[in-house]
Amino acid sequence: MHLFAVTGAPVLHSKSPALFAAAYPLHADDFAYFRMAAQSAEEAAWLFGELGLSGMNITAPFKGDMARLADVRAPEVQTLNACNTWVVEGGKKCAYNTDIFGVTGSLEKAGVTVAGKRCLVLGAGGAGGAAAYALRAAGGVVVIANRTVDKARRLAQSIGCSGVGLDEVAAIAPQADLIVSTLYPHVDALNEAWLTPQHVIFDAIYHGSALRDKARRAGCTFIDGAGWLLHQGAPAYRKFTGLEPDVESMEKSPLLKALPRHISLIGFMGSGKSAVAPALASLLGMPVLDVDAALEARCGASIPQLIGEKGEAYFREQERMALEDALASATPTVISCGGGAVTQPLLSKLLKENSIAIWIYAPPACCLSRIDVSTRPLLARHANPQQAAEELFEKRKSQYAKTAWMLVNTTCRSEVQVSRLIYDEISNILHR
Ligand code: S3P
Repeated sequence: MHLFAVTGAPVLHSKSPALFAAAYPLHADDFAYFRMAAQSAEEAAWLFGELGLSGMNITAPFKGDMARLADVRAPEVQTLNACNTWVVEGGKKCAYNTDIFGVTGSLEKAGVTVAGKRCLVLGAGGAGGAAAYALRAAGGVVVIANRTVDKARRLAQSIGCSGVGLDEVAAIAPQADLIVSTLYPHVDALNEAWLTPQHVIFDAIYHGSALRDKARRAGCTFIDGAGWLLHQGAPAYRKFTGLEPDVESMEKSPLLKALPRHISLIGFMGSGKSAVAPALASLLGMPVLDVDAALEARCGASIPQLIGEKGEAYFREQERMALEDALASATPTVISCGGGAVTQPLLSKLLKENSIAIWIYAPPACCLSRIDVSTRPLLARHANPQQAAEELFEKRKSQYAKTAWMLVNTTCRSEVQVSRLIYDEISNILHR
């Protein structure tokens, strides 16, 4: 099974999985796709290698640093110094920028031709660069306007167009045929009085665009960022899977899906689930339930006793019942699962459907250093517990990946830091 992830700023994380989800069920056995809550490009790159991922989508603010950390950079990445896709090809981490197809694909779909048109790109960040590159390659006459003029000029020089400050937009915008805005929603750089029905306005924002109303009132043709998202996702999907994406059903798939109410923590023994669960529950103001503890209370025996005396199959049956009960509860709860819960396909499915499953991750050797092996019968029965842990983790890795909504790395992080990270990622999406 190939594993893929998306990493970057939490606020953007909801995008690619939604696009993947549409085509995903068909190939569910071939790959798993999850979010990765890294705090730097270096951490994302380390996790990429550690987990043996086959590919990754990258959102701001890591697009530049991830381009630098790749082994091979596609020509557009070399020009833009930014990538949004990593794929392992011939054992090398290759960086691509499919954002440019987000722009050309959206324009094509809207029936807008670019050759010979006067194009104004607002913003000289990753998205602005991709837009300017795409428009220039399609034969447009491109001007990049940015608050920091130097940044606009540098980018323009590498692409072969011109760069100006935002103060020049008043003179350029009325004459432009196409205006692409990649500015933050709160930056108001376009005056409605400059816009006419001849203008095509394309806003990279795909959720709550303020430009939309302005453009509509002025009678402009308006294109929103949802198409950009879709058309950058499709080529990444092709690179990841070698398959043709079902763009039509991707188009119909909602960008933001409602999240389930429980939060479950999955991951290997010693990864930190039991320590993180109460810290996260207190941040969220939710009750916490430890499945292993609930099961021990119900059976009146410890887990080593249960597995030792009645066998692993009996223990799994009890685990299934305890977790089913927890997930059926009407009270939103932080549920800490046993490390092997995801090995039961039914439980993996229930966790995915009824909870936001967070993969609490640390490398197996690190996990082992945190636990008393004598309390973990599945490892204690082996002469070499370290090797047993590594083999067991390898066997389970794809099951964690398939169940997880997001992975959080607990190496070198306290439970408070880990829970804060999870909290930030979840609330950014919940509060949109
Ligand atoms: C197990 C993990 C343990 C416990 C049991 C089996 C596993 O829980 O459920 O020993 O199969 O990985 P922790 O992950 O909390 O250690």
